[in-house]
This record gives sequence, structure tokens and C-alpha cells, in this order.
Amino acid sequence: MMDTPQLIDPFDRTINYLRVSVTDRCDFRCVYCMSENMTFLPKKELLTLEELDRLCSVFISQGIRKLRITGGEPLVRRGIMDFFKSISRHLGDKLDELTLTTNGSQLTRFADDLAAIGVKRVNISLDTLDAQKFKDITRWGQLKKVLDGIKAAQAAGIRVKINMVALKGTNEEELEDVIRWCAEKDMDITFIEVMPMGDMGEEDRLDQYWALSDLRKRIEKTWELTDIPENTGGPARYVRVDKTGQKIGFITPLTHNFCESCNRVRLTCTGQLFQCLGQEKETDLRKSLRDNPDSDAPVIKAIHGAIALKPKGHDFSYDRKTVAGEMTRHMSHTGG
Ligand code: 5AD
Ligand code: SF4
Repeated sequence: MMDTPQLIDPFDRTINYLRVSVTDRCDFRCVYCMSENMTFLPKKELLTLEELDRLCSVFISQGIRKLRITGGEPLVRRGIMDFFKSISRHLGDKLDELTLTTNGSQLTRFADDLAAIGVKRVNISLDTLDAQKFKDITRWGQLKKVLDGIKAAQAAGIRVKINMVALKGTNEEELEDVIRWCAEKDMDITFIEVMPMGDMGEEDRLDQYWALSDLRKRIEKTWELTDIPENTGGPARYVRVDKTGQKIGFITPLTHNFCESCNRVRLTCTGQLFQCLGQEKETDLRKSLRDNPDSDAPVIKAIHGAIALKPKGHDFSYDRKTVAGEMTRHMSHTGG
């Protein structure tokens, strides 16, 4: 039997999940993610669609079985459907799943095409169901477009999971409504603690921070929850709402360390490989690609070298009311 290579890190974790940011651009300007006038990377810094395909294919050949496309907003990248179509050739072979995380604004255009090439699930970021609050959070977004996008995805047969960043004083009062709305539409929901990404001002961040332990207590005033022991290798912990059967996820980078079961690495839109979201170490795979147009061997070597250096975990913490472990790069660069 031929050996399929595997990516195994120093802590014996099998790395089979790659998150790929395909652009740092976005048609929204969420307050916790970007400043209003962002400077984006020059185009030549980005991996071309061909380079993305080549690099993702190399990762797949080395043991990556799940690919999540992110950004910025992946669907604003010109020609991105060509990349999706092309990379989907690995589905049913070495690739088990091709998914994306999107703000939903472009899904009315793309949902059918995504479904057709084998995308079965998408994560859609949505922090509020109130049109005015949606504008306040995203600055440039329109709630209706996203709701239409969700409809389009579901109509195309794609399963939708909602990601909601817990924002103190912003979406606190909608918690129960949002959970009910998701139950009605047969969507799972995951709550995310706001993370210290990018230089957004320490004061604001601490004001926005709503610990998910508090959020959970609030949900438990309305519904009984049962912990689900399942571990997807991801950062989320799950509970079931006894009454509706609905699954709720919690991503708590700050109150809970989830690194021990980490199965993932991240590729930025410029071809830098990050072994861990919360560490600054990176490996320049773009250089390996561009220096070696005719051979994938150097990039394969660089990937294995990076995995061999994957750290045990991150150092985020809001302890003592300072933002420790803060990363200087923005989420839209590394990929959310
Ligand atoms: N903290 C937490 N979540 C964030 N996201 C973007 N920036 C941050 C942050 N600083 C989320 C988006 C989306 C996902 C891709 O990442 O809201 O749900
Ligand atoms: Fe865009 Fe997502 Fe960042 Fe909002 S959080 S600005 S939707 S990348």
C-alpha cells in the first residue's frame, strides 16, 4: 500500500485541516475587525488564484482533508469561483470537505454554484438581527442582503451555521431571539468571544468583551442545556438545547484554552503559513512557490518544517484588565 503522507506536529496532533484566507479585503468594516479606512495589500503580494490552487493541492497531497476558505470576505475576490471549481476536483478523493466562512453578502449570487461544486456547509457571520445594529457593527453592511444570502444558501441545499460574536451592550438583549430564529430555520449557532486581533484600541476591546460563561448563564435562564462531549478537533465546545434539539457552540479563546486538540493551520492570502492563530511565527510558502515554479518539493519541505514547529498553544488573555497576547495582525489577514 502506498503511504499517504501525514502532517503530525510535535505534540502528536494530526494536522488535517487548513484554513485559507484568499483575500484581506471585505465589503464590510466590522468594528471589531477593521478600521473604517483600511489599507489593503497590493495585489502582487497576494497569491494568484493559480498559486492558491497549487498550494492547496500540495497541502491536500500531504494529508489535509478539510479546507475552509476565508478572508476578509472570500466571495469578494475576483474570479474566486474558478478557484472553488478547480479545487473541488479533490473532493471525494483526498479531500473530505470544502467549506467557507462568509459574511453572506454575496451568497445570492454564488450559493447555487457553491452547492453545485460540492460545498455542503457554510459558516455565516451574523451578529444581530436588528438592521440598525447591523449597520453599527458592520459599518458598510446591509442586513437584508445577508438574510437573502442565507435564504439562497438554504434553498441551494447548503447547511448554514451562524457565527455570532458576543458583544456586550450590542447584541446581549437579542440572545434568546437569535437562538429561536436559528432553531426555526434549522441552523446551528456558535458564539465567539471577541478576540484581540489587530490594533483596535485596548479600551474598546475591553468594553466589548462579553464572557461566554455569562452568556451561557443567561441562556440557561430560558432553556436547559446539556453538554455534548463531542470534540471536532476545533475550538468550539457544544451544548444541546433540550427543548429544541438545537446545537449551540461556544468559542472561548479567552476563558478556555482549546489548543490541546488543535488540528489546524492557517494560510494567509500572501502565502504565509501560521502554525497557530495566537502566535507570531510564520513560514513564507509564497517564496517557496515562486522560487520553484517547476517543483513542489521545496514547498512540501517547508510545510513539514512548519508543522514540526507548531507551538502548543496561544497566550491570549484579558487578565488584569490588559490585553495580553494581542496580535498585531488583523483577523482579515490571517483568516477568521
Ligand atoms: N474577535 C472575534 N471574532 C472575530 N471575527 C473577526 N474578528 C474577530 C475578533 N476580533 C469573526 C467574524 C467571523 C469570523 C470569521 O471571525 O465575526 O464570524
Ligand atoms: Fe469583513 Fe468578517 Fe471582518 Fe466583518 S468580521 S469586516 S465581515 S472580514
